[in-house]
Amino acid sequence: MYPKIRPDLSDEEFALFGDFIERNSGLHFGEERRDALRIALVSRMSALELTEYREYYERLTWGPDREAEFRRLLDILTVNETWFFRDRAQFEALRSHVLPEIARHKRDTRTIRIWSAGCSTGEEPYSIAMVVRDVLPDLGRWKVEILGTDVSERALRDARRGVYRPRSLKELEERYRRRYFEERGGLFHVSEEIKGMVRFEYFNLIFEPYPLSKMKGWDIIFCRNVTIYFKLRSTKRVIHNFYLSLDDLGYLFVGYSENLRFLTDKFRPVWLGDAWAYRKREVVEPRMAERPKPKPPLQDAGESPDELICLAEGHADAGRHGEALRLCEEALKKDPTYADAHFLKGLIYKAMGETGRASEEFRRVLLLRPDVLARMYLGDIYREGGLLGPAAREYEMALREFEEHRPRDLGRFGDGYPPELVYRICQEKLKGVRRAMAGRNA
Ligand SMILES: C[S@@+](CC[C@H](N)C(=O)[O-])C[C@H]1O[C@@H](n2cnc3c(N)ncnc32)[C@H](O)[C@@H]1O
Repeated sequence: MYPKIRPDLSDEEFALFGDFIERNSGLHFGEERRDALRIALVSRMSALELTEYREYYERLTWGPDREAEFRRLLDILTVNETWFFRDRAQFEALRSHVLPEIARHKRDTRTIRIWSAGCSTGEEPYSIAMVVRDVLPDLGRWKVEILGTDVSERALRDARRGVYRPRSLKELEERYRRRYFEERGGLFHVSEEIKGMVRFEYFNLIFEPYPLSKMKGWDIIFCRNVTIYFKLRSTKRVIHNFYLSLDDLGYLFVGYSENLRFLTDKFRPVWLGDAWAYRKREVVEPRMAERPKPKPPLQDAGESPDELICLAEGHADAGRHGEALRLCEEALKKDPTYADAHFLKGLIYKAMGETGRASEEFRRVLLLRPDVLARMYLGDIYREGGLLGPAAREYEMALREFEEHRPRDLGRFGDGYPPELVYRICQEKLKGVRRAMAGRNA
């Protein structure tokens, strides 16, 4: 019998491991995921017959097999939940808009490159392969590269095997199931035809610079439900690298609850049926570069609060947070009850990682008007700070407000997102928080 590992993790140890893991994978462990981190550490330490967290930290940072050990730890720490055709509207957009358009402008080279970054056990890139087969009936005359990458070697092994439990097929259309899967002993084996279209590789999105000789010129990048576990600064870096890796006419798909607003000025959302994707700003707004820059700081402050907020948004989009905040203050001097100014301040502080100030601003918005988006952002801030109860309450109230007021649009800060979509996002977030609460109490 080995001496027991201390069940609790001191604050210092939590910070030490949390910091190391974040620097090397982007994965952020806030209070709400402290337990998940502790369980993973204990599991690796038991396998290595270590009893002290410090010893394991040394092994992870200095040991001769530190890289392999870190990968083993990541196998436990990563959340690999995924399924075929997850968020189906995005695959519909791929089929009806994105692939036909890319095929049109690639008709000379007949080469299409698609990257599923953070592909987990492979359901996402295999779903993409199925759609590619629908859109390109003369596939033999094309060179289509579909690459799935991840940091979980366990997930990549499963992806290469291509054998799935029924729950992975829960959103799969029957015609695909019949055509591309064989059921054996209650498990579903994906066909060789589809498997042969996808290649899997280990790739850590947080390590820069990306080798652009290989990771450049992607026509489509999917990176969904990966950066939700990252801090803003890591997400910003990943998005910047996607900008460099994506073809100028390419498309970037992110998860439903991931919004690039204020994270980058380089992408713009485009609506494709019921889904949206991001494209390079210069493609969506070709004349943007020639547009006059937002006006310089006000001299006579003649603008209305609304005009001031428009200017502030321009600065915030370009990452000039200080100037944007200053203009919000100007607007509030003119009209202290101007909720949009508080909202914008909340978004800017959130993008700056100043969550305390951001939540104050969103609360001020709620004193001035019912606002489902402000509720949702408040919920996000609480959730990220480990305050699961308050987070759940905000999401519940957001849902209730949706049901009571049935908003037709979400106003200036809704980016044109359909309210039903945001309603679904809130539902998903609430489910996630309730699951985490149940896990904590278990
Ligand atoms: C929840 S799954 C998402 C799978 C799929 N994209 C989807 O939306 O269904 C998140 C995946 O991101 C991977 N991941 C986390 N950090 C990563 C990193 N730094 N580089 C690459 N992949 C990462 C995890 O291993 C995990 O498999």
